[in-house]
Amino acid sequence: MKISVISSGSRKELAEVLEAHCRNDQVTLLDQSCERADLEAEAVADADVLILDCQTLERLDWAALESFNLKHPYSTTALICNADYERVLVQAMRVGVRDVLKHAEIAEQLPAVIERARIRLAASLGTRVAGKILTFIPCKGGSGTSFISSNLAYVLGEVHNRRVLLIDLDLQFADASFYITDDDSGRTLGDIVRRTDLDGSLLESACIKVGKRFWLLRAPQTPEQSVGITPDQVDNILSVASMHFDYVFVDLERTLDPLSLRAMDRSDYIFPIMQTVLPYVRGTQRLQRTFRALHYPDSKIRLVANRQGKSDDLPTSKIEAALQSKFYIHLPNDFQNANASINAGKPLYEIAPGGVLTRALIEWSNRIIGIHAPASGASGRSIGQRLKTLFG
Ligand SMILES: Nc1ncnc2c1ncn2[C@@H]1O[C@H](COP(=O)(O)OP(=O)(O)O)[C@@H](O)[C@H]1O
Ligand SMILES: [Mg+2]
Repeated sequence: MKISVISSGSRKELAEVLEAHCRNDQVTLLDQSCERADLEAEAVADADVLILDCQTLERLDWAALESFNLKHPYSTTALICNADYERVLVQAMRVGVRDVLKHAEIAEQLPAVIERARIRLAASLGTRVAGKILTFIPCKGGSGTSFISSNLAYVLGEVHNRRVLLIDLDLQFADASFYITDDDSGRTLGDIVRRTDLDGSLLESACIKVGKRFWLLRAPQTPEQSVGITPDQVDNILSVASMHFDYVFVDLERTLDPLSLRAMDRSDYIFPIMQTVLPYVRGTQRLQRTFRALHYPDSKIRLVANRQGKSDDLPTSKIEAALQSKFYIHLPNDFQNANASINAGKPLYEIAPGGVLTRALIEWSNRIIGIHAPASGASGRSIGQRLKTLFG
């Protein structure tokens, strides 16, 4: 779970409870007074549990608290205070606060508050609509699959404010993170894939966060870490991921194996990426035969023409006739901006926001969420800090 705590005092009891009961949760502590807290800030806005540790309630913004609770029907808000208990209880309940504790009750009662929040959240997951799983596969090596899928994921997060996860399942080359960030911290798929207690927060904490709403789970960095990963483990990650993110992208390598087959089985859509030259046509035909053998409906497959506009391109109509399939989208060749983005280790959207390829990716993201004009992104930066560093 995501737990956000707003507290201006270094409260030992609070730290002890959180350390003992929330080891696998993502805990963010905002060292500020509750009166001044911005409940729409990114560190708070997605919280499953919001704990407000108040010195005084005199200037607490009850309206903001009510609006937070209305927006998050499955989250739990708890208030810790020493004010006139009976009066606060009524007011708190009116604005949707579920629990009110006195400071002296933290050690005894907060663990139960957290467990109740866990149960509420688990129950709500049954009603939450699962995120879509989109898989990207090269028709032949070098199609642009990792570059395009990671940049499209970034655009979806940035322009449309959707929570997007990209899982790099290319265990051989693991290019996706390299294209979009030079941050190589964080854990990898290999570190969490075997965890039996995997949940959304644990998954998210293992990812690199790029931009506002895009998370990237790197492929294992050593062959030893990849050995022994099973299709069921991949399946489990996808199940957890789709309950926690709006979109789950999977970047595959060209060679099919039991892991990529499982990812494709679980996908809502598969995007084979090709270039419109002869060797790619043969590669695409081979993939099409596999899709038929797996009984995937045509509607699940969305063929993408990448790097179009080069001098050796074959006419689109000829390729569509040979493949008996229409392209879902055409992406232009944008060598200069693609190179600049890779060299800088930054997303294309940041390097060339108005470039031809960026515009095509925005158009694609519009189609994914079913709108025809880009939505504006929300503002706000993460101001969270890890619990330990603050309480420590
Ligand atoms: N539309 C494009 N315009 C220009 N260069 C591109 C485009 N798409 C991909 N590339 C480049 O193609 C190269 C190979 O891309 P990559 O994503 O690694 O391919 P794949 O994952 O299919 O093997 C990268 O250097 C990338 O910058
Ligand atoms: Mg790749």
